[in-house]
Amino acid sequence: MKDAAPETIYLKDYTPFGWQVSDVHLTFRLAPKSTRVISKIHFAPNPEAPAQEFFLHGEDLKLIRATIDGVEVTPEVTPEGLRCAVPDGPFLWEAEVEIAPEDNTALEGLYMSSGMYCTQCEAEGFRKITYYPDRPDVMSVFSVRIEGDLPVLLSNGNSVDRGEGWAEWHDPWPKPAYLFALVAGDLVNFPDRFTTRSGKEVKLNIWVRPGDEGKCAFGMEALKTSMKWDEDAYGREYDLDVFNIVAVDDFNMGAMENKGLNIFNSSCVLASPETSTDGNFERIEAIIAHEYFHNWTGNRITCRDWFQLCLKEGLTVFRDQQFTADVRSAPVARIENVAQLRARQFPEDQGPLSHPVRPESFQEINNFYTATVYEKGAEVIGMLKTLVGDEAYATALNLYFDRHDGDAATIEDWLKVFEDATGRDLTQFKRWYSQAGTPRVEVTEDWADGTYALTFKQHTPPTPGQEVKEPQVIPMAVGLLNPNGDEVVPTRVLEITEAEQTFTFDGLASRPVPSINRGFSAPVVLDRASSREERAFLLAHDTDPFNRWEASRLLARESLIAMICEDAGPDEAWLDGLERLLRDRDLDPAYRAMMMGTPTESELAQVLFERGHTPDPDAIHAAKEVLAQVKAERWADLLPGLAAEGTVDAPFAPDAEQSGKRALGAAVLALTSRLDGGKAARAQFASADNMTLQLSALAQIIRVGEDAEALAAFEDQWRHDRLVMDKWFGLQVGATAPENVVPRAEALTRHADFDWKNPNRFRAVMGALAMNHAGFHRKDGSGYRLLTDWLIKLDDLNPQTTARMTSAFQTWKRYDAERQALMRAELERLQAKPKLSRDTGEMVARILG
Ligand code: ARG
Ligand code: ZN
Repeated sequence: MKDAAPETIYLKDYTPFGWQVSDVHLTFRLAPKSTRVISKIHFAPNPEAPAQEFFLHGEDLKLIRATIDGVEVTPEVTPEGLRCAVPDGPFLWEAEVEIAPEDNTALEGLYMSSGMYCTQCEAEGFRKITYYPDRPDVMSVFSVRIEGDLPVLLSNGNSVDRGEGWAEWHDPWPKPAYLFALVAGDLVNFPDRFTTRSGKEVKLNIWVRPGDEGKCAFGMEALKTSMKWDEDAYGREYDLDVFNIVAVDDFNMGAMENKGLNIFNSSCVLASPETSTDGNFERIEAIIAHEYFHNWTGNRITCRDWFQLCLKEGLTVFRDQQFTADVRSAPVARIENVAQLRARQFPEDQGPLSHPVRPESFQEINNFYTATVYEKGAEVIGMLKTLVGDEAYATALNLYFDRHDGDAATIEDWLKVFEDATGRDLTQFKRWYSQAGTPRVEVTEDWADGTYALTFKQHTPPTPGQEVKEPQVIPMAVGLLNPNGDEVVPTRVLEITEAEQTFTFDGLASRPVPSINRGFSAPVVLDRASSREERAFLLAHDTDPFNRWEASRLLARESLIAMICEDAGPDEAWLDGLERLLRDRDLDPAYRAMMMGTPTESELAQVLFERGHTPDPDAIHAAKEVLAQVKAERWADLLPGLAAEGTVDAPFAPDAEQSGKRALGAAVLALTSRLDGGKAARAQFASADNMTLQLSALAQIIRVGEDAEALAAFEDQWRHDRLVMDKWFGLQVGATAPENVVPRAEALTRHADFDWKNPNRFRAVMGALAMNHAGFHRKDGSGYRLLTDWLIKLDDLNPQTTARMTSAFQTWKRYDAERQALMRAELERLQAKPKLSRDTGEMVARILG
């Protein structure tokens, strides 16, 4: 039996809700299998809405009773909600429903995690709590009473009153239902306080399970730094008496910005030197900032409908990236962001899942919390800022906050404040929101009589549902260097608006070398036939740290491609240039560590595919192995000195300086291990007193091969710590040689601690499998099969995480016919699963195309 085709929702069909909600009172009587939710909601006709029938969303709810103005009613209940006849004017709706948080494995709505009650309502989880117009343009003031025999009972806003077994909360700021939150459990808090710039005292708490108190200090510092930063950088103050953060173990995403009560995946807030890597610390800092910044960009100003998701997410990512650039190293942060964009967003934008930053239709909105909406959405704001300048950006943002505070806004509103603040016409710029796909920009040049000309030709390939693309506005930051290495034309932003456009530079004494798309000023792919010599020149001389790194990346990429396709050896000139740079002690260790990186195997597969080759995952992996071996041997004399530079003598601090050194140390260790068979790694593993060193050593021990002892020791040491054990699970799959990846992942699924219902644990193994390029793409199809077996299993319990992980298959058309057939067969097997969720169904259908 096939279910009816799921409904598709369109942006063009937006209609306001027929009623306004002035206030909502909720009472929760908590019980794992039978929680009662009693709602009192004041509705009044919305004068701006067309006439419509009264419909409230509701899913998996048992309706006990409903009344209108105190009179019992019998609504027509469907799987999606209820319809009811209502009075013409304002009325009071009261309802009582029963739900079973303990049986909620989807982790949407009210559910239980390690014995505590918690909620996740974005995007459409509130409808699993009670009947309500669960849409972001319905904003209301919430009062909540929680009854339950638990020591800690939390909801949004300010605490009103509490007693033995109950607590009352009131949130004065009108909000949509997706920002509702409730937490109840046996929790302990890590308290602090913050004084806002206008002198308001705010209580801060991080709530955790007993035993995790020691992992809160870093997150708390990050919160205070974020609060101060938003005051300084954006003039935004916090607006409640208390700001609560709760850590939960079972969570589909990273974290959630519920008003005054942020809920975090414990992996995104808990940190200690012994249990967290430098990467974890940096990520936690960014996510705390992100969720905090949502208080203004997301909560005070929210989205009219879910098509506008990038309005809050693109802007909030942009803000958290600015924050990281300010509190850490700006060039390093920029390179990391672009590397992420290329690794996650480009494959999405260049494959069957490609969609605009503001999508125009969806079946399941949870499938659109994507790298395109978030990361490309942030890039679009960065371009806007580059085009209008810093000052106009600040003016426009102030106007945005003034004009739209309390609104459920749209991308049109957002662009209008920039038009009003600057007088610019942003009609063409808006295509960044409506056109999917990564623009490709071909660059050619001309030189005659002291005039240098750069010609840009832009072209965006077709994407699903969008055959033809119009030219976009591309802010292209360019600088010119003299052949002697001096900069003759400092960075200038060229505004490309045409399909083909030429810019000239006059009065130059000699033909310059261009440095194009500096700082990655536009999220495009540059197609430019530049010579190895020119790239090596930029590697040595570019004043733009991003493009200097980019030069090395391109040299590495072309060298690897030549090794794969032409059996060439590694590019000597590049390795020499890189070596000079590595020896330059004036350069930040973090930056040098990044210079030692090479393109991912997946990226190489994409480039080969674009150039008409069929990527062979084994050949790609082998080339990277050869290159690493050559580097190790060639730099045998250089490595000990770099290792010393990568050693920290001071007590552990998770700051940019120390983490940069450790990153350099780890890059060196990865090479040294190829010379000493893992001796140094084993020594580091034995003596490590922080997780960064312990884990980078373990990675090399696994890669070298004889890892049983170290893995057992690690497991022994960390068995009690879920977050550390996630690393143990993930690293084994991630760092293992391709031929062992699938058997290893398979064996780990039989481990007693493979708690696959926990999204972090599931992702640790299955995510690592999908990310291990040559392992996942084994020719026998075993990687595809194992992942699909587990997706089929998880879909019944947790559609959201299942759907998200199907994107492992989004690049399937890059590969050879045999692999394509194998992947197609697995996708079809998943598609044929009985009762496939709407989430996964939509993803599989889009991937198959
Ligand atoms: N708004 C959250 C954030 O980015 C993400 C929550 C998404 N949750 C979901 N189920 N789609 O900070
Ligand atoms: Zn967000």
